[in-house]
Amino acid sequence: MGAQLIDGKAYAQAVRTRVGLRVRELVAETGQTPGLAVVLVGHDPASEIYVRSKGKQAVEAGMASFEHRLPADTSAETLLGVIAQLNEDKNVHGILVQLPLPAHLDARAVINAISPQKDVDGFHISNVGMVGTGQDAIVPCTPLGCMMMLRTLHDDFRGKTALVIGHSNVVGKPMARLLLNADCTVMVAHKSSTNIPELARMADIIVAAAGVPGLVKADWIKPDATVIDVGINRIPAPDLGPDKTRITGDVDFDNARSVAGAITPVPGGVGPMTIACLLANTLSAFCHLLGLPERPISLEHQEPT
Ligand code: GUN
Repeated sequence: MGAQLIDGKAYAQAVRTRVGLRVRELVAETGQTPGLAVVLVGHDPASEIYVRSKGKQAVEAGMASFEHRLPADTSAETLLGVIAQLNEDKNVHGILVQLPLPAHLDARAVINAISPQKDVDGFHISNVGMVGTGQDAIVPCTPLGCMMMLRTLHDDFRGKTALVIGHSNVVGKPMARLLLNADCTVMVAHKSSTNIPELARMADIIVAAAGVPGLVKADWIKPDATVIDVGINRIPAPDLGPDKTRITGDVDFDNARSVAGAITPVPGGVGPMTIACLLANTLSAFCHLLGLPERPISLEHQEPT
């Protein structure tokens, strides 16, 4: 029997709908509108697309969107000045500085200049430390989306074993911490690991976030395991025509789907969840800043519509 397909697109739509409904209720109750500020330095084409999408989806959810586009040669002083202003701005509840930044800017210093309460990426060292020690904090969007999808399949992670492949600060490390906080037994593999197939065969849950197309093979997967593919890799697709490309994940999906119990496709799996979770984080930050006793939507168990 083939794996259940985890429909991230439908799931993300459900999250956006819930966020949108709650935003409209809160605007009516408080007279204030959640505001998301996105800062883009330079003209990286992929970043331009992400930033446009983030602003558009924030507006569709009833939020205010503030875009700050700065030239590629912006100084650290100017960028930190913009962040200081956004930290003080009462109309801004979430701040995101799109990464990567131009090489002359220190991304760590920039991220840590954002008020932790407005850090809707969950990258500030204070949020990282709080998640790392099992405290409530703003959680990075992609791992949060993975966790939300995993929760629809596993109501209890105790006694389960997970393998996270990739140890980036954006996905792998926070993903491992979230699973560990849920009492899952967690293994983390990365580019220096020499035994990933053996580790994978022990895992009830695999989260692949290595950025290597087709890395995870069907014979690495324990029958019935849940496979979450975070990879978004652009590869040549000569079958579609000369110079054509397609997006593919870190999992050999066509073969893995006959072994796994549930699997996310690429595209249409984890990808759409990232911006949906950004909106959920912005709503949570708004509630927190206004002192509203709100249980964040992102932590609720929900089914796709
Ligand atoms: N660049 C790629 N992914 C992300 C993300 O999740 N947040 C930010 N700020 N930049 C990114």
